Amino acid sequence: MKTPELQRYRDAERMNHWLVVLLFALAALSGLAFFHPSLYFLSAALGGGVWARILHPFIGAAMFCSFLGLFVRLWRENVVNAADREWLRRSPVLLQGDKAVMPPVGKYNAGQKVVFWLLAACLLTLFVTGVMFWQPWFANAFPIALRRVAVLLHAVAAVGLILTVIVHVYAAIWVKGTLRAMTRGTVSATWARQNHAQWYQETTRKP
Ligand code: HEM
Repeated sequence: MKTPELQRYRDAERMNHWLVVLLFALAALSGLAFFHPSLYFLSAALGGGVWARILHPFIGAAMFCSFLGLFVRLWRENVVNAADREWLRRSPVLLQGDKAVMPPVGKYNAGQKVVFWLLAACLLTLFVTGVMFWQPWFANAFPIALRRVAVLLHAVAAVGLILTVIVHVYAAIWVKGTLRAMTRGTVSATWARQNHAQWYQETTRKP
């Protein structure tokens, strides 16, 4: 028998998410191409070195703005509370595969919330520091010493973002039945009961 489905994301939220993913892929490929000569071939994704150099900052700014769309929709559901701290304390047991000992969670578990805020922090840092050395538009407004710090922080935030996205994608694949939340917008009731019991209760209680 087919299990009932619950709506997890609306169409606009899913389109917003996949736009961020597309822009992230293009920004990451072109950014990595500038990172080290051995990765320069990745600039081909945007039509070669010159185009990658021109487009990377615009794509980065577009990624930041589209993430802002997701952020505005979702930040309230990602506020970390006392139950999340307890969840984090018990999380080593979860990694061993024992879900039963975990406290019931709402729409997002504490791990997802931490990932959410890390993504937001990395993207904000990338945007602010990127603007500070964006030639020829804004860079001249900042002293060279500040721009050097900005370049360093930009690289650190980029590595942080890529690592956080790897964790995010791994978790989305690892917890079976999660991917369809972002592809179809729905999840099975069983998935919701097992992984987000509190959210399941709230959603099914609604008239
Ligand atoms: C191929 C890459 C990606 C895949 C397969 C993927 C998959 C998913 C899935 C399945 C969810 C739903 C999780 C749930 O509702 O429990 C989700 C949520 C989300 N994703 Fe992604 N994602 C990808 C890349 C990204 C990137 C690059 C970003 C941002 C830089 C991002 C930001 C988010 C955010 C903010 C949420 C909402 C979760 C929350 O608010 O805590 N994703 N993603």
